[in-house]
Amino acid sequence: MSDDRESTTRGYGAGEVDSVISVEEVVRQTAAIAEEISLEQLDALVEGEPYIALNDLVAGYGQMHILHGINLRLGRKQSLCLIGPNGAGKSTVLHAIFGFNNIFSGSILIGEDGEQTDVTALSPSEKLEKAGIAYILQDKSIFPGMTVEENLWMGGFLKNQPAEARAAAESVFDKYPRLAARRRHQAKVLSGGERRLLEISRALVMNPELLLVDEPSIGLEPRFIDMVFEILYDLQHNEGKTIIMVEQNAKKGLEFADIGYVMVSGKIAVAGKGSELLENPKVGELFLGG
Ligand SMILES: Nc1ncnc2c1ncn2[C@@H]1O[C@H](COP(=O)(O)OP(=O)(O)O)[C@@H](O)[C@H]1O
Ligand SMILES: [Mg+2]
Repeated sequence: MSDDRESTTRGYGAGEVDSVISVEEVVRQTAAIAEEISLEQLDALVEGEPYIALNDLVAGYGQMHILHGINLRLGRKQSLCLIGPNGAGKSTVLHAIFGFNNIFSGSILIGEDGEQTDVTALSPSEKLEKAGIAYILQDKSIFPGMTVEENLWMGGFLKNQPAEARAAAESVFDKYPRLAARRRHQAKVLSGGERRLLEISRALVMNPELLLVDEPSIGLEPRFIDMVFEILYDLQHNEGKTIIMVEQNAKKGLEFADIGYVMVSGKIAVAGKGSELLENPKVGELFLGG
């Protein structure tokens, strides 16, 4: 996939910055603009009722605390993008929601209209099966020696019947002819963009409600980046999926998402509409290439 990698990306954001700021400096400056964020402020960004809520979540790996009390609110069919310096804990938020790491305290609630389920302690397969949460891996998650259709069937491993997984895979092929044309090819011959499409669509086989997407643009040529965001746009606006994404390309992520949170050192530093964060001069300077 290295052939798709942009060779010119420097610093943070869209790769347009002239001077590269060190991660330490970005952390320091982000911490300096961190605000006290109230739950009312987070609720005000939600369209309707929150569909997913993280309450004062403390989580990490082993005994190590990485997230120090994260609150998050997102309505159904909305999208939220986490941005922030490397190591801020963005991926860890997705991991915590999906159940990949240890949660020390706090809760994760899913559902609306008084039908909220506490999913904090569910395993990843329970999250997928019972709560409709799907995690789209950050790169290199497909099986290169398997065909495209075999990879898709794998996405249905929790279905009771293989026939159900196959039927779900067919509806994915109906939706993405580009993938259908290559269904019997080994996944390793796909272009970077097609591979990302396969990663996303494999998650769709289980028909999830909530998609957790870690760095959808990473390693892709610009034209494929646009394609991936168009696919995610379609999933949100036409298929009604709720999306939480992490995106190092902060400009693309904030242009896409209804809501943006800036994270630093395991905390939410700034929260606003995606469009507001795009206009925020300090966020611009730190993450949008000036
Ligand atoms: N599997 C892991 N085991 C131990 N520590 C980890 C693991 N994954 C990430 N970390 C640590 O957690 C912190 C946050 O990482 P991460 O959530 O990946 O940051 P981001 O996605 O914002 O770049 C970092 O200090 C990182 O070293
Ligand atoms: Mg990450």
